[in-house]
Amino acid sequence: MNVLLLGSGGREHALAWKLAASPLLTTLYAAPGNPGIAEEATIVALDIADHGAVAVFCREKKIDLVVVGPEAPLVAGIADDLVAAGIRVFGPSKAAAQLEGSKGFTKDLCAEFSIPTAAYRRFADAAAARAYVKEQGAPIVVKADGLAAGKGVTVATSVDEALSAIDACLDEDGAEVVVEGFLEGEEASFFCLCDGRTAIPFGTAQDHKRVGEGDTGPNTGGMGAYSPAPVMTPEMVDRTMREIVEPTMKGMAARGMPFSGVLFVGLMITDNGPQLIEYNVRFGDPECQVLMMRLKDDLLVLLNAAVDGQLAHTSVRWSDDAALTVVMAANGYPGVPEKGSAIRGVDKAEAIEGVKVFQAGTAMNAGALVANGGRVLNVTATGASVSDAQTKAYEAVDVIDWPQGFCRRDIGWRAVARETAEG
Ligand code: AMP
Ligand code: GLY
Repeated sequence: MNVLLLGSGGREHALAWKLAASPLLTTLYAAPGNPGIAEEATIVALDIADHGAVAVFCREKKIDLVVVGPEAPLVAGIADDLVAAGIRVFGPSKAAAQLEGSKGFTKDLCAEFSIPTAAYRRFADAAAARAYVKEQGAPIVVKADGLAAGKGVTVATSVDEALSAIDACLDEDGAEVVVEGFLEGEEASFFCLCDGRTAIPFGTAQDHKRVGEGDTGPNTGGMGAYSPAPVMTPEMVDRTMREIVEPTMKGMAARGMPFSGVLFVGLMITDNGPQLIEYNVRFGDPECQVLMMRLKDDLLVLLNAAVDGQLAHTSVRWSDDAALTVVMAANGYPGVPEKGSAIRGVDKAEAIEGVKVFQAGTAMNAGALVANGGRVLNVTATGASVSDAQTKAYEAVDVIDWPQGFCRRDIGWRAVARETAEG
């Protein structure tokens, strides 16, 4: 099969690495790609926002499957446009991608299909939102929606903080905000492969969203992750499938927008069981990197089964080993990162057994690897336990020579503490 992979992050490097190992693969192409992806795939200069150009390329190169990594092209309808051109795509339609693209859409779906999530209200009017926050009190969570998307999520510990977040979100005409209750518990990332009708579990992980050690400082795209997530016991996975994922699949089908692709279920595991924080319609980054390290099966076979509606007959096998990834970011991230600094020693890190370095914001400059973004490297290792994987990942981090980069030194702390307590 000829496959075209879209995206340029560490997530796509991990997908490319796994796809390249498939005996079904003839040629793997990637756009826009990065130097790490270039080790696995032929990079093509395609503007992935130009769906017509992507379709023309697919016809020319006889592409049998397009795998879409990031959410932006999905929310923009690339799957619909390619399917209309007769091209097979792994990834949801524009309508189904609203699960990530619109927090209000997802909360309304949860309400209609009794999916456990924090109580919420949607507002377009700042005065009404402010009154609701004053009535509810803190802690409370304010999420931008609609045109204000990207201004993000504020977990407010005081009413004043929530009021400022509302003002920031509702400063444009047409903007909307979701105000929801604060959920207390342990967060986990849970993934499902979906074919429109059937969803099957596709791994668990825990991310580290804050930039600083001890989970402090501003939010980021994720500073490191490990898999599996100990909090996602087999019972918790069953419960999440029954109470959250299956009603979502039914609800989406009932709305005429069946979901296919990867459903990334952001969960809070509370005293009352799993509660949905949010959906994403793609693999997590860096969660995908640790999942791909543990996946024993052929990824291409699984993606084909999802596209062909065959998941009811499909099972997935994982390594018993744990995997852990440490994100190395450029100084300045998550603000404006410094670009262009030289990175040495990736080969030395990868010479350590069980270590793989996935590249994200990198570029080649005169034959040398340089930083070219915020999150730059994902130094990933496997081990018999999360503690072992952690030790090995930091051993690999320490042989990388990149003074202008930084990382958190405590990735995996929650699982390591658990393992230490269990002896
Ligand atoms: P989101 O962009 O929806 O993933 O939210 C970013 C982060 O905010 C999540 O990873 C959680 O840590 C936190 N968060 C979001 N919603 C809630 C909630 N209802 N209760 C507590 N924390 C939340
Ligand atoms: N690591 C979180 C995300 O991919 O959204």
